[in-house]
Amino acid sequence: MDELKFNKLFAGVLLAALVFMAGIKGAQILVPSHDGHGVAEHKNAYPIEVAEVADTAGAVAAPVGPEPILALLAEADIAAGMKLAKKCTACHVFDEGGANKVGPALWNIVNADKGGVAGFGYSDALAGFGGGWDYAALNAFLYKPKAYIAGTKMNFAGLKKPKDRANMIAYLRSLSASPAALPTDADIASEAQ
Ligand code: HEC
Repeated sequence: MDELKFNKLFAGVLLAALVFMAGIKGAQILVPSHDGHGVAEHKNAYPIEVAEVADTAGAVAAPVGPEPILALLAEADIAAGMKLAKKCTACHVFDEGGANKVGPALWNIVNADKGGVAGFGYSDALAGFGGGWDYAALNAFLYKPKAYIAGTKMNFAGLKKPKDRANMIAYLRSLSASPAALPTDADIASEAQ
Protein backbone atom coordinates (compact mmCIF):
# COMPACT_ATOMS: atom_id res chain seq x y z
CA MET A 1 0.00 0.00 0.00
CA ASP A 2 1.51 3.30 -1.02
CA GLU A 3 1.40 6.30 1.19
CA LEU A 4 -1.31 8.12 -0.75
CA LYS A 5 -3.67 5.16 -0.63
CA PHE A 6 -2.94 4.79 3.06
CA ASN A 7 -3.71 8.47 3.66
CA LYS A 8 -6.98 8.17 1.76
CA LEU A 9 -7.94 5.10 3.72
CA PHE A 10 -6.94 6.79 6.96
CA ALA A 11 -8.97 9.89 6.05
CA GLY A 12 -11.92 7.67 5.26
CA VAL A 13 -11.71 5.91 8.62
CA LEU A 14 -11.35 9.27 10.37
CA LEU A 15 -14.39 10.63 8.56
CA ALA A 16 -16.43 7.58 9.38
CA ALA A 17 -15.43 7.95 13.03
CA LEU A 18 -16.37 11.63 12.98
CA VAL A 19 -19.74 10.89 11.41
CA PHE A 20 -20.27 8.16 13.97
CA MET A 21 -19.42 10.47 16.86
CA ALA A 22 -21.54 13.24 15.44
CA GLY A 23 -24.33 10.71 15.27
CA ILE A 24 -23.92 9.89 18.96
CA LYS A 25 -23.76 13.56 19.84
CA GLY A 26 -26.92 14.16 17.82
CA ALA A 27 -28.61 11.31 19.58
CA GLN A 28 -27.59 12.79 22.92
CA ILE A 29 -29.15 16.07 21.96
CA LEU A 30 -32.31 14.41 20.79
CA VAL A 31 -32.42 12.01 23.70
CA PRO A 32 -30.89 13.85 26.60
CA SER A 33 -29.77 11.63 29.39
CA HIS A 34 -30.25 12.81 32.89
CA ASP A 35 -26.92 11.71 34.25
CA GLY A 36 -24.98 13.25 31.36
CA HIS A 37 -23.18 10.00 30.57
CA GLY A 38 -23.85 8.99 27.02
CA VAL A 39 -27.11 8.04 25.46
CA ALA A 40 -29.74 7.19 27.97
CA GLU A 41 -30.49 3.64 27.08
CA HIS A 42 -32.07 2.84 30.37
CA LYS A 43 -35.00 5.16 29.99
CA ASN A 44 -37.46 5.49 27.20
CA ALA A 45 -37.29 8.96 25.71
CA TYR A 46 -40.95 8.62 25.01
CA PRO A 47 -42.43 6.69 27.89
CA ILE A 48 -45.02 4.27 26.73
CA GLU A 49 -48.12 4.65 28.79
CA VAL A 50 -49.52 1.33 29.77
CA ALA A 51 -52.95 1.60 31.27
CA GLU A 52 -53.01 0.00 34.68
CA VAL A 53 -55.33 -2.89 34.45
CA ALA A 54 -56.57 -4.08 37.78
CA ASP A 55 -55.67 -7.68 38.28
CA THR A 56 -59.11 -8.99 38.92
CA ALA A 57 -58.29 -12.61 38.26
CA GLY A 58 -58.71 -14.45 41.49
CA ALA A 59 -59.46 -11.27 43.43
CA VAL A 60 -61.95 -11.61 46.22
CA ALA A 61 -65.13 -9.67 45.57
CA ALA A 62 -65.29 -6.43 47.54
CA PRO A 63 -67.13 -7.02 50.78
CA VAL A 64 -70.66 -5.70 50.72
CA GLY A 65 -72.09 -3.99 53.74
CA PRO A 66 -70.59 -2.54 56.85
CA GLU A 67 -66.97 -3.28 57.61
CA PRO A 68 -66.27 -4.37 61.18
CA ILE A 69 -65.68 -1.50 63.59
CA LEU A 70 -65.28 -3.14 66.99
CA ALA A 71 -61.50 -3.00 66.78
CA LEU A 72 -61.72 0.74 66.06
CA LEU A 73 -63.96 1.52 69.01
CA ALA A 74 -61.36 1.60 71.77
CA GLU A 75 -59.36 4.28 69.96
CA ALA A 76 -62.35 6.05 68.45
CA ASP A 77 -62.53 9.83 68.67
CA ILE A 78 -65.58 10.88 70.68
CA ALA A 79 -65.13 14.55 69.74
CA ALA A 80 -65.11 13.60 66.05
CA GLY A 81 -68.28 11.60 66.66
CA MET A 82 -69.87 14.63 68.29
CA LYS A 83 -69.08 16.65 65.17
CA LEU A 84 -70.56 13.95 62.97
CA ALA A 85 -73.71 14.06 65.07
CA LYS A 86 -74.52 17.35 63.31
CA LYS A 87 -75.74 15.09 60.53
CA CYS A 88 -78.33 13.71 62.94
CA THR A 89 -79.48 16.76 64.89
CA ALA A 90 -82.09 17.75 62.32
CA CYS A 91 -84.00 14.75 63.63
CA HIS A 92 -82.44 13.66 66.92
CA VAL A 93 -81.68 15.20 70.29
CA PHE A 94 -78.72 13.69 72.17
CA ASP A 95 -79.07 15.36 75.60
CA GLU A 96 -80.14 13.53 78.71
CA GLY A 97 -83.90 13.91 79.00
CA GLY A 98 -84.03 15.35 75.47
CA ALA A 99 -87.35 15.33 73.62
CA ASN A 100 -88.25 13.18 70.66
CA LYS A 101 -88.22 15.09 67.38
CA VAL A 102 -88.53 13.62 63.90
CA GLY A 103 -86.56 10.74 65.39
CA PRO A 104 -86.41 9.42 68.96
CA ALA A 105 -84.17 10.97 71.61
CA LEU A 106 -80.81 9.18 71.57
CA TRP A 107 -79.47 9.55 75.14
CA ASN A 108 -78.39 6.13 76.43
CA ILE A 109 -79.16 4.33 73.16
CA VAL A 110 -76.25 1.81 73.20
CA ASN A 111 -77.66 -1.58 74.30
CA ALA A 112 -81.18 -0.09 74.62
CA ASP A 113 -84.05 -2.09 73.10
CA LYS A 114 -84.77 -1.25 69.48
CA GLY A 115 -87.84 0.92 69.24
CA GLY A 116 -87.86 1.42 73.00
CA VAL A 117 -87.85 5.18 73.51
CA ALA A 118 -91.04 6.12 75.32
CA GLY A 119 -93.49 8.31 73.49
CA PHE A 120 -91.98 7.94 70.03
CA GLY A 121 -94.11 6.64 67.19
CA TYR A 122 -91.87 4.12 65.46
CA SER A 123 -92.46 2.56 62.08
CA ASP A 124 -93.81 -0.99 62.21
CA ALA A 125 -90.55 -2.10 60.61
CA LEU A 126 -88.40 -0.82 63.48
CA ALA A 127 -90.91 -1.55 66.23
CA GLY A 128 -91.14 -5.16 65.10
CA PHE A 129 -87.45 -5.72 64.33
CA GLY A 130 -86.47 -6.97 67.75
CA GLY A 131 -83.20 -7.06 69.69
CA GLY A 132 -81.13 -4.27 71.14
CA TRP A 133 -78.79 -1.61 69.83
CA ASP A 134 -75.51 -3.38 70.48
CA TYR A 135 -72.41 -2.23 68.63
CA ALA A 136 -72.94 -4.62 65.72
CA ALA A 137 -76.56 -3.51 65.23
CA LEU A 138 -75.59 0.17 65.35
CA ASN A 139 -72.75 -0.47 62.90
CA ALA A 140 -75.14 -2.12 60.44
CA PHE A 141 -77.92 0.46 60.91
CA LEU A 142 -75.69 3.52 60.64
CA TYR A 143 -73.95 2.09 57.55
CA LYS A 144 -77.25 2.05 55.65
CA PRO A 145 -80.43 2.29 57.75
CA LYS A 146 -82.83 1.09 55.07
CA ALA A 147 -80.68 -1.91 54.19
CA TYR A 148 -80.56 -3.07 57.82
CA ILE A 149 -84.22 -2.37 58.60
CA ALA A 150 -86.21 -2.38 55.38
CA GLY A 151 -89.11 0.03 55.83
CA THR A 152 -87.56 2.19 58.56
CA LYS A 153 -88.65 5.81 58.40
CA MET A 154 -85.19 7.10 59.23
CA ASN A 155 -84.32 8.93 56.03
CA PHE A 156 -80.58 8.98 56.29
CA ALA A 157 -78.16 7.65 53.67
CA GLY A 158 -75.67 6.32 56.20
CA LEU A 159 -72.09 6.73 57.32
CA LYS A 160 -69.99 4.89 54.77
CA LYS A 161 -66.56 5.26 56.42
CA PRO A 162 -65.84 2.66 59.13
CA LYS A 163 -63.95 5.27 61.13
CA ASP A 164 -66.93 7.63 61.05
CA ARG A 165 -69.22 4.89 62.33
CA ALA A 166 -66.73 4.00 65.08
CA ASN A 167 -66.46 7.66 66.14
CA MET A 168 -70.23 8.09 66.00
CA ILE A 169 -70.87 4.97 68.06
CA ALA A 170 -68.16 5.96 70.56
CA TYR A 171 -69.99 9.27 70.97
CA LEU A 172 -73.35 7.49 71.41
CA ARG A 173 -71.69 5.23 74.00
CA SER A 174 -70.49 8.28 75.93
CA LEU A 175 -74.07 9.54 76.22
CA SER A 176 -74.90 7.54 79.29
CA ALA A 177 -74.52 7.68 83.04
CA SER A 178 -72.87 4.25 82.82
CA PRO A 179 -71.45 3.69 79.32
CA ALA A 180 -71.61 0.17 77.90
CA ALA A 181 -68.46 -1.95 78.16
CA LEU A 182 -66.05 -1.71 75.26
CA PRO A 183 -65.79 -4.86 73.13
CA THR A 184 -63.43 -7.53 74.38
CA ASP A 185 -60.69 -9.08 72.25
CA ALA A 186 -62.95 -12.11 71.83
CA ASP A 187 -65.80 -9.88 70.57
CA ILE A 188 -63.43 -8.27 68.09
CA ALA A 189 -62.10 -11.61 66.88
CA SER A 190 -65.57 -13.06 66.35
CA GLU A 191 -66.79 -9.94 64.53
CA ALA A 192 -63.93 -10.09 62.06
CA GLN A 193 -64.94 -13.57 60.83
C1 HEC B 1 -83.98 12.74 58.51
C2 HEC B 1 -84.12 12.45 59.92
C3 HEC B 1 -83.06 11.58 60.56
C4 HEC B 1 -81.70 11.71 60.51
C5 HEC B 1 -80.87 12.71 59.73
C6 HEC B 1 -81.17 10.68 61.36
N1 HEC B 1 -82.19 9.94 61.90
FE1 HEC B 1 -82.00 8.39 63.19
N2 HEC B 1 -84.00 8.10 63.15
C7 HEC B 1 -84.91 8.89 62.49
C8 HEC B 1 -86.23 8.32 62.61
C9 HEC B 1 -87.50 8.87 61.99
C10 HEC B 1 -86.08 7.16 63.39
C11 HEC B 1 -87.17 6.15 63.73
C12 HEC B 1 -87.18 5.17 62.57
C13 HEC B 1 -88.35 4.21 62.52
O1 HEC B 1 -89.23 4.28 63.39
O2 HEC B 1 -88.35 3.43 61.59
C14 HEC B 1 -84.67 7.05 63.72
C15 HEC B 1 -84.12 6.05 64.50
C16 HEC B 1 -82.80 5.99 64.90
C17 HEC B 1 -82.26 5.01 65.81
C18 HEC B 1 -83.03 3.90 66.48
C19 HEC B 1 -83.54 4.42 67.79
C20 HEC B 1 -84.46 3.47 68.55
O3 HEC B 1 -85.01 3.91 69.58
O4 HEC B 1 -84.65 2.31 68.13
C21 HEC B 1 -80.96 5.31 65.96
C22 HEC B 1 -79.94 4.56 66.80
C23 HEC B 1 -80.66 6.47 65.14
N3 HEC B 1 -81.82 6.87 64.51
C24 HEC B 1 -79.43 7.07 65.02
C25 HEC B 1 -79.15 8.12 64.16
C26 HEC B 1 -77.86 8.72 64.00
C27 HEC B 1 -76.63 8.35 64.83
C28 HEC B 1 -77.96 9.64 63.02
C29 HEC B 1 -76.87 10.52 62.43
C30 HEC B 1 -75.68 9.84 61.99
C31 HEC B 1 -79.33 9.65 62.58
N4 HEC B 1 -80.02 8.72 63.29
C32 HEC B 1 -79.83 10.48 61.60
C33 HEC B 1 -84.63 10.03 61.76
C34 HEC B 1 -83.35 10.46 61.44
